[in-house]
Amino acid sequence: SASDNQNKSKSILTQEVSTKQPFIIGVAGGTASGKTTVCNMIISQLRDQRVVLFNQDSFYHPLTDEQFKKVHEYNFDHPDAFDVELLLSCTETLKNGRAVSIPNYDYKRHRNVESSRMVNPSDVIILEGILVLHDHRVRDLMSMKIFVDTDSDLRLARRVQRDTVDRGRDIQYVLDQYAKFVKPSFEEFILPSKKYADIIIPRGADNHVAIDLIVQHIFTKLGQHNLCQIFTNLFVIQSTNQI
Ligand code: ADP
Ligand code: C5P
Repeated sequence: SASDNQNKSKSILTQEVSTKQPFIIGVAGGTASGKTTVCNMIISQLRDQRVVLFNQDSFYHPLTDEQFKKVHEYNFDHPDAFDVELLLSCTETLKNGRAVSIPNYDYKRHRNVESSRMVNPSDVIILEGILVLHDHRVRDLMSMKIFVDTDSDLRLARRVQRDTVDRGRDIQYVLDQYAKFVKPSFEEFILPSKKYADIIIPRGADNHVAIDLIVQHIFTKLGQHNLCQIFTNLFVIQSTNQI
């Protein structure tokens, strides 16, 4: 009957809407390269689109008491410092259009704080972090891969400023950590992941042209996606009306 057909078309439509996959962007780059700043500039230009940003740092393994006591010997820049399985499953969940709870990381206590953040499914999902382009399974979920490429001296200067002022760290620890772990891991793991990027942004957030181009591309992709969706839905309505 007509009402049966209408119901059938409605259920197919609902299925279509819920299977609409978001546009996932990965933003990698060395410490203090301007990843967060670039992401915030992209988000502010995306205006009315539904966008969420989450950070790879939320997936750091918590330190054991033993590791905490010897934090000066801990390498936070090694891929093994992150729970990549959890990062992968959270990104997959978001990609499949479901909400997910993401831990909040405390840089002073080197562990997640009790309150986690609920991240809702959105049209655009941005994952930011030093090593988000390192694991191929995480990379494979991304529709666009960006590498923020900023001069190392500038990054170190910003890092010293941030860690001593915002994170209340001792300057000697910051410099030792940089020489012992941050720089070697950048060279061994982060820099080689640049080859997987679709877009490399020299000078980070100062590069307004690159950011404009990225935003334009996202708008184009979302527009195509919405147009495809409208045609698919029209086709579904047409074909179910003929059943
Ligand atoms: P990341 O997320 O890569 O660690 P951030 O975006 O947090 O980098 O930037 C690190 C620090 O450098 C922040 O204090 C930020 O305000 C500053 N910063 C970033 N980009 C610029 C820029 N283009 N000019 C001046 N300061 C910047
Ligand atoms: O924001 P940014 O990309 O700089 O964050 C990553 C950096 O945070 C890493 O280089 C790592 O050395 C540092 N980090 C730290 N202490 C932690 C966790 C991360 O210094 N507990």
